[in-house]
Amino acid sequence: MIRTGCASMIRMPLAQRCSVLNRTFASAAAAQNSEGHFLLILGKPGGGKGTISGKILKDFPMFRHLSTGDVLRQHVMNGTDIGLQAKEYMDSGELVPDSLMIRIVMEDTNAAMKSGDSLLLDGFPRTKEQAVALDKELDVDLVINLCVPTETIVERISDRWIHSPSGRVYSYSYKPPKVKGKDDITGEDLVQRDDDRPECVRNRLMRYDEVTSPLVDYYDAKGVLKTFHGTMSDKIYPEVNTWLDEKLQ
Ligand code: AP5
Ligand code: MG
Repeated sequence: MIRTGCASMIRMPLAQRCSVLNRTFASAAAAQNSEGHFLLILGKPGGGKGTISGKILKDFPMFRHLSTGDVLRQHVMNGTDIGLQAKEYMDSGELVPDSLMIRIVMEDTNAAMKSGDSLLLDGFPRTKEQAVALDKELDVDLVINLCVPTETIVERISDRWIHSPSGRVYSYSYKPPKVKGKDDITGEDLVQRDDDRPECVRNRLMRYDEVTSPLVDYYDAKGVLKTFHGTMSDKIYPEVNTWLDEKLQ
């Protein structure tokens, strides 16, 4: 999902969101030609990518946020062809095939890229093939790598509740909703993600180690990556903030 900072976006039909997504990519790429930035956030499943992204968006409102997991869950919720194809992979903790992911994310980015904001990409790329496809379109200039211990992640995921339409994330121990079981903004029900079952989480963590973790070296070699270690997003985030502040000067 792209968070535009505009609550009405959440209620947009998928087609309209896709059009915003297209414009976002076009504008982000063009922004690079001027002062814009292309920021990725890497990290294990449940490692706090969405949580840290939310904090970045508050402090650096020039970024638009695109979480491929949220986009896929929207497709599943809306019963689109993409959603039907993606669901079986997601529910078993497997990665959705590269061809489909690259199509979802890149399909419309070849369009002329004129002007716009910077982009924060959460959950893409997740394979070398996706990274190479992205490189063909854009120069990634900033990569945040969140390094959180696996024990911490397993605990947190069992306590995660989400508002499906928006992707907003809650946890009773860390960020409880104002009213138990209800989204703070819409009052709608919170649910647990289908892929947060323990056996699925184990598989997602394994896939991360095998397939996604090599991207850390890939971006490190390009000199654009910074790793942040820790167990608490509230402790990690001030360091992220300082680093971004320096880079965005
Ligand atoms: P996606 O939705 O991206 O899932 P993920 O990478 O597994 O990451 P999560 O969203 O589960 O965790 P997060 O790092 O955002 O952590 P969060 O902030 O929520 O992808 C889902 C699926 O889609 C994939 O498995 C795959 O099938 C498919 N997919 C997506 N992109 C793909 C791609 N490019 N290629 C192929 N397939 C793709 O935090 C976790 C919990 O911790 C929350 O409850 C939060 O409240 C809590 N928390 C955070 N900070 C703290 C703290 N300091 N203390 C206590 N709790 C905390
Ligand atoms: Mg997430």
